[in-house]
Amino acid sequence: MYNWALIGYGGMGGWHVRKLLTLPEIKVAGVYDILPERNAAAEAEGVRAYPSLEALLSDKDVNFVTIATPNDTHLPLVVEALAAGKHVICEKPVALSLAELQTMIDASRRCGRLFCSHQNRRWDEDYLIIKKIFKDDELGGVFNIESRVHGSRGVPSDWRNEIAHGGGMILDWGVHLIDQVLLLTDEPVVSTWCGVTHVTNDEVDDGFKTVITFGSGLTALVEVGTSNFVSMPRWYMQGRNGTTVIEDWELNGKTVMVSDWHKRDAVPVATAAGLTKTMAPRTEETIKNYPLPRIESDVCDFYRNFLSAMAGEAQLIVKHAEMLRVMKLLEAMKESARLDQVVHTRI
Ligand SMILES: NC(=O)c1ccc[n+]([C@@H]2O[C@H](COP(=O)([O-])OP(=O)(O)OC[C@H]3O[C@@H](n4cnc5c(N)ncnc54)[C@H](O)[C@@H]3O)[C@@H](O)[C@H]2O)c1
Repeated sequence: MYNWALIGYGGMGGWHVRKLLTLPEIKVAGVYDILPERNAAAEAEGVRAYPSLEALLSDKDVNFVTIATPNDTHLPLVVEALAAGKHVICEKPVALSLAELQTMIDASRRCGRLFCSHQNRRWDEDYLIIKKIFKDDELGGVFNIESRVHGSRGVPSDWRNEIAHGGGMILDWGVHLIDQVLLLTDEPVVSTWCGVTHVTNDEVDDGFKTVITFGSGLTALVEVGTSNFVSMPRWYMQGRNGTTVIEDWELNGKTVMVSDWHKRDAVPVATAAGLTKTMAPRTEETIKNYPLPRIESDVCDFYRNFLSAMAGEAQLIVKHAEMLRVMKLLEAMKESARLDQVVHTRI
């Protein structure tokens, strides 16, 4: 039995508690939140609330903790929890900068305790479908991948609105989407261009678009928007022989493959002001439509892996080198947006 405690019983903290209450191998020892009303809410739901952070961290029964507080509080909490002998999972983005992340990793090594970021979106089924089609090379030489999440309510009106708390969409959603894309390939990133938006918020980015180029020339476009009243597809991936689209979180989508490359004849499309053969839709006999594969996934495997790593039976799935790589790229993206130019790099 592993005893777990949570620091920060807000929106995501509640998600962790609910998930872990379903795992028989974990005992939820309790939570601590800086706000008394959040501790009262935990107790109302039958979960013990510690009277202080010190009380939680000095509880010898607790082997590991999850930190789910605003982004700017992660560094001191991670370092304190590791120093108290706990293994630590921290919500994403674990750090506001590469330097902060390195301090956390150093502390984890010094204290001999596990530490990793909660990269739960590695278990998203839309991502796993794209990963399978990419790794199996079903499209025959993928040369471009596009990953987008679009909302229409701006940045949530809480600490995410403020730089001091680590707000903004590069840190919020960027850390998920960049983590996903980087795990698709071992190729180094050789350049990135990034532009940010400030439609609803002057202080932090309320969206961004980045184009990442890998060593082979493979490109990935990653876009987060919060002023999109019509959403573009969640994923769009192009290979030499086909295209995959995943439209939405419900996993609507398809793969379209060319069945006869040589049949190039097309019926020209006449628009009001011209004629095009190049952009004419393909005729049905030259293409084949395939449904998306279905992939079962259970995000609780993140915690199961953490337990195995605590028992010394497995490596952590979320590795420090991967966390560092994501943070280096996020920093290169911020630099590109600041300079308004392509940043050449090797990440
Ligand atoms: N992985 C995901 O899918 C996902 C989704 C949402 C949020 N998050 C991350 O989770 C973290 C929390 O986000 P949220 O949406 O739950 O925010 P939230 O504002 O809903 O909750 C944060 C909670 O932390 C408490 N808190 C603040 N400072 C504290 C401290 N020093 N000690 C103890 N408690 C403290 C607050 O009182 C609040 O209850 C952020 O890092 C965010 O990026 C991750």
